[in-house]
Amino acid sequence: MRHKRKVVALSALASVACLMLSGCGSENEKRIIRIGHNQSTNHPTHKGLTAFKDYINEQLGDKYVVEVYPSELLGSQTEMVQLTQTGAIDYCVASNAILETFSKNYEIFNLPYLFASTEAYHHVMDDEALTDPIFTSTEKAGFEAVTWLDAGTRNFYTVDKPIESPADLKGLKIRVQQSPTNIEMMKLLGGSATPMGFGEVYTALQSNIIDGAENNEMALTDNGHGDVCKYYSYDMHQMVPDIVIGNVAFMEGLTEEEEAIFEEGYDILSAVQRKEWITSVEAAKEKAANEQNVQFIYPDQAPFVEACSPLHESVLKNNPALQSTYDAIQEYNAQYPSVAE
Ligand code: GCU
Repeated sequence: MRHKRKVVALSALASVACLMLSGCGSENEKRIIRIGHNQSTNHPTHKGLTAFKDYINEQLGDKYVVEVYPSELLGSQTEMVQLTQTGAIDYCVASNAILETFSKNYEIFNLPYLFASTEAYHHVMDDEALTDPIFTSTEKAGFEAVTWLDAGTRNFYTVDKPIESPADLKGLKIRVQQSPTNIEMMKLLGGSATPMGFGEVYTALQSNIIDGAENNEMALTDNGHGDVCKYYSYDMHQMVPDIVIGNVAFMEGLTEEEEAIFEEGYDILSAVQRKEWITSVEAAKEKAANEQNVQFIYPDQAPFVEACSPLHESVLKNNPALQSTYDAIQEYNAQYPSVAE
């Protein structure tokens, strides 16, 4: 299965290389804009990117052709970020988690229990005064963020052991994203962190290389993890956004007029994705419960929050530049507190 995908990925890359080197194909007068992501074509992110593609093709179709490559066809997220850095592709969607290895500024949004509520999370991420310095901090590395996408709340799920408290994680191998903050979080919670790319998780679960993982509800259905994992525990440890990044040289080459159209395109992408997210998560929960027989658990979050709290202090101590953003987030938290309990 993975092998097959690799072959598809290689042939997609080969056609990308062919198009880049020779401009071959009937569209050779037009500049092809390639966007990669790691979700399926049913996912809100793909729907948002399709809306972006349609808008750009409609507005600027005489000059550009946007192509969206789903399902890791262009590689894992880390590989796609590297391709975007060099300009081999133009855009990709990367989880905020993996971006912290490209710029430490992204660590802030990887902190567990950072946001008091979904409202606080959305307001922070929509506040450009807060996000701009972070989104532009990778300019020298060749890419910048153009918008963020909702990726819900991350929770633990396991093959056969319900997680009611952090003590239940002891001795379990849990897949985390390839981010030092996430590895540290897992250590604090007592589980054994097993970092790997998203595309590897299903096979790792199925072959008992790991005992569980953590993600939003879409992973259960869209990625089939709920076929293997029967317990999903709402500890609500993180709201980690997905970030759409673009190649700086490409974006700087746009005319002012084109840039305005692209900006509008990013807004459309974000609006469509966010709207789709709400209905997709509801549908995923229903499918997981009714068709995959996943049991949803609602543990007391307090022991999880307490176990993770040293991470806030250590990240801020190692990176004091994040303090002012952290303080601003606390103001949003006070304004949009948790509605639970
Ligand atoms: C979510 C997120 C992805 C990320 C994945 C993961 O699905 O939207 O961007 O890659 O989690 O856990 O790796």
